[in-house]
Amino acid sequence: MTERQVTVSTLLEMKAAGEKITCLTCYDAGFTRVLEAAGVEVLLVGDSLGNVLQGHDSTIPVSVADMAYHAACVARTRRRALLVVDMPFLSYRLPQQALDTAAQLMQRGGAQMVKLEGGAAQLETVASLSAQGVPVCSHLGLLPQSVHKLGGYRVQGRDEAQAEAMKRDALALQDAGAALLVLECVPSTLAREISGSLRIPVIGIGAGGGCDGQVLVLYDLLGITPAEGEPPRFVKNFLSGRDGIQAAVRAYVDEVKSGHFPTAEQGYS
Ligand code: KIV
Repeated sequence: MTERQVTVSTLLEMKAAGEKITCLTCYDAGFTRVLEAAGVEVLLVGDSLGNVLQGHDSTIPVSVADMAYHAACVARTRRRALLVVDMPFLSYRLPQQALDTAAQLMQRGGAQMVKLEGGAAQLETVASLSAQGVPVCSHLGLLPQSVHKLGGYRVQGRDEAQAEAMKRDALALQDAGAALLVLECVPSTLAREISGSLRIPVIGIGAGGGCDGQVLVLYDLLGITPAEGEPPRFVKNFLSGRDGIQAAVRAYVDEVKSGHFPTAEQGYS
């Protein structure tokens, strides 16, 4: 049976129809089957694999080869969901390097879209990728690859100047050709405003319920986050109280679609 592929157009239609988009990180074949069976529309091979698979304390050590390897594991099993793959740290410094990285991730890894962090500084790169037929997902707010510059994993866009810059960046990235935008750790009201102002879908993580869709790191959803201490407030353990991983992922999909996840308490002001 041929299943209807999730494409950039599907996501635009979902946004227009007000249907919430579900996205989860995914790094291997087994979880690809579980996530697709639960109806997840977007699989993100995130460079968070540096934390959750490789045991690093940031995403900075992750290489293009690591990303291509895990993307290929997912691509071999994927049947329907859109496969988005992160470009790792400093693999897209200049437009030409970004094109080379995208070629590896798409040709070796089977990526259907690449994701890169940053706003104004990435406009030329986003335009160049998009002009060459590479679908791009941009990422604003907390940028994990810039953790040392930011001085930690903190909510972004709380002050007026930062919020205005983020709104400008979001529109400029859309104009440059970005097809999707991830907002990470952004006050819920700001994320809602940005989502409402853009034509392209906005996927939030720690950005409240006003985005067009949600993403979580799969290991967080399963309660196996390796980090010390309390998980961030936007993390919910969907396995707790359920009888297996498939049921946990289905519950995530159901709660995002019905608007029960995230709650106001799981967002930032
Ligand atoms: O790498 C990743 O998992 C991500 C998500 C947190 C959006 O970028």
